[in-house]
Amino acid sequence: MGWSAKVSPCTVLLCVISSLLLSGVPIGAQAQLSTLPLPEHVTLGSGDLVIDQGLKVSLEGFTDPRLDKAKERFLKRLSEETGILHWPEATAGQPDFVIRTGHASAPVEALGEDESYHLEVTPGRVLLQAPNPLGVMHGLQTFLQMVEVTDHGFVVPSMTIDDKPRFPWRGLMIDTGRHFIPLDVLRQNIDLMEAAKLNVFHWHLSEDQGFRMESKVYPLLQEKGSDGLYYTQEQAHELIAYARDRGIRVVPEFDMPGHAASWFVGYPELASGNGPYSIIRKWGIFDPAMDPTRESTYQFLDRFIGEMTGIFPDAYFHIGGDEVNGKEWDANPRIQAFMREHHLKNNAALQAYFTSRVEKLVTKYHKITVGWDEVLQPDTPRDVVIQSWRGQESLAVAARQGNRGILSWGYYLDLNQPASQHYGVDPLAGAAAELTPEEQKLILGGESAMWSEFMTPEIITGRIWPRAAAVAERLWSPKDVTDTASMYRRLAIFSERMPWYGGATAGINRAMIQRMVGNADPSSLLVLASVVEPPKEYTRESLATYGSYSPLNKLVDAVPAESDTAREFNELAARIAAGKASREDFEQAERWLQIWRDNNAVLQPLLTGSSVTKDLAPMSVNLKETATIGLEALSRIGQHHSFSTSEEEKQVAALDRLKAPEAVLIDAVVPGVALLVQKARN
Ligand code: ACM
Repeated sequence: MGWSAKVSPCTVLLCVISSLLLSGVPIGAQAQLSTLPLPEHVTLGSGDLVIDQGLKVSLEGFTDPRLDKAKERFLKRLSEETGILHWPEATAGQPDFVIRTGHASAPVEALGEDESYHLEVTPGRVLLQAPNPLGVMHGLQTFLQMVEVTDHGFVVPSMTIDDKPRFPWRGLMIDTGRHFIPLDVLRQNIDLMEAAKLNVFHWHLSEDQGFRMESKVYPLLQEKGSDGLYYTQEQAHELIAYARDRGIRVVPEFDMPGHAASWFVGYPELASGNGPYSIIRKWGIFDPAMDPTRESTYQFLDRFIGEMTGIFPDAYFHIGGDEVNGKEWDANPRIQAFMREHHLKNNAALQAYFTSRVEKLVTKYHKITVGWDEVLQPDTPRDVVIQSWRGQESLAVAARQGNRGILSWGYYLDLNQPASQHYGVDPLAGAAAELTPEEQKLILGGESAMWSEFMTPEIITGRIWPRAAAVAERLWSPKDVTDTASMYRRLAIFSERMPWYGGATAGINRAMIQRMVGNADPSSLLVLASVVEPPKEYTRESLATYGSYSPLNKLVDAVPAESDTAREFNELAARIAAGKASREDFEQAERWLQIWRDNNAVLQPLLTGSSVTKDLAPMSVNLKETATIGLEALSRIGQHHSFSTSEEEKQVAALDRLKAPEAVLIDAVVPGVALLVQKARN
């Protein structure tokens, strides 16, 4: 018997949940489970299941090679979690962990397939039951996330879970156009998607800066449009199979009619201007756009879409449609004459005409069109799916006219916003809250999006994760799972386990930090790194000049979007400001502030020795000044000796200055110090 059947005193995890949950009650926002996303329904048992090297896992009912591979992957991860290397074959009639699958899933994973599962963990046995392999894969991830170490071994607490997703479309978009992202990095992300129960990989394959998919029909697309950095058709097939093995659909996007300069390098006749065209090496919105008025454009797209839909089996095909500035259309007399002749009163109408033509081609190849929200018009065909990025309103408008939608607004990971901000965005809130229940059903879910202006292969995974897991929970778990503190606690656990999924780490990129300082001790740079963040939204582009060839090797590139230390300090400062702080809170705040104040003296000499750290000198001083103000405020609060109005004004003015970006970074502890100053005034 591989699982010892001992009923143990409750583990820490189990004791906490026991105190919060009543048997049979759906878990609430306060749940203390370590899983992310949280399951729909949990009932606690007693005792726990001890995992030892005798564990025997067996597949019952429907089986196929995909389930065999899922089992192998599960045991490999379990080895990483426990250090136990060998798992014996289950002998007939004596399994400890039964996986019972009802039937096959669709040959090509379909939107809305049953993803539910039932997981029963008792001290003697595990039963994982699901209608099809998709639920099995989700249930195995849930189990892996519950493994914890105790004084009597690695265990999973006894419980019964019934789980299924809230939304059927739970995606992650990766822009491989602006920076080419190699397949091993994409696989790493697909592994993490499996862990977070995401089920759509949206592969953004063409941009002004690069055409990344091999075409055999139009080979100049990649030959002239990619700098040799593209995926072969064979590699695409492999990645699609890799994703399918993990219950993940692959939706390709070929962005048109704008963001398409790379197509025109090899095929200038597709464009609306005179050219010549070259791969664009900068970031932004550019003029080149396809010519919607020539039949030859549609003949080209017909063959192209025919070829690509033969490679990508998914039922959905994304045609982009975003950010067409229309300048080439305005400047072309032939296009202007066409618009007059066809009563197309503006560029939006011309784009709508283009979209409707392309949509017919996509339909001809038995696929369903997806487009960014710019493609939405009153007469947009009903089966076009709208991906909203400019706000939630377009999804509501789309749903009212019968179009389905996916939310990405609020889930843009490249904007460097905190996980809590993404977590607070619900596909059925905002304008969508006013929809009827029938209309709401047209909102299929959402997708995190990672645009790659500032992403290289070494940066991207650590910037997508763990925040994409917070979005994954929003899309999987019940609507009332909204406790941000619980999310952050579980996000930290998710981050710790990330290296088991393809080797990526969350948090500060240590290798990049070490590279910045050569062989020197990086400790003082790590102190600074722990409390700075990249600028938010689109401000980075205004702080320095960037393009395709800019090395992304500075501190801004090596730190995560959100500093955990700064968030914890700011929360602690908020408790102090609210009069709810413990003695330990005060002591911790003081310790941190002292470290940040004193770090500058050690860090300055280090910074001068490297070309990639030199410009950090003022930021290090800023942190020292911020911390000095914080310590003064803390001391005043402790002594009940308020700042005078003029003293406070001086501190506030200083903090306003310290809030501004420096070396393309922001000092993320300024908000907490501002709260302390405010408290010291009152
Ligand atoms: C987009 O962000 N331009 C879809």
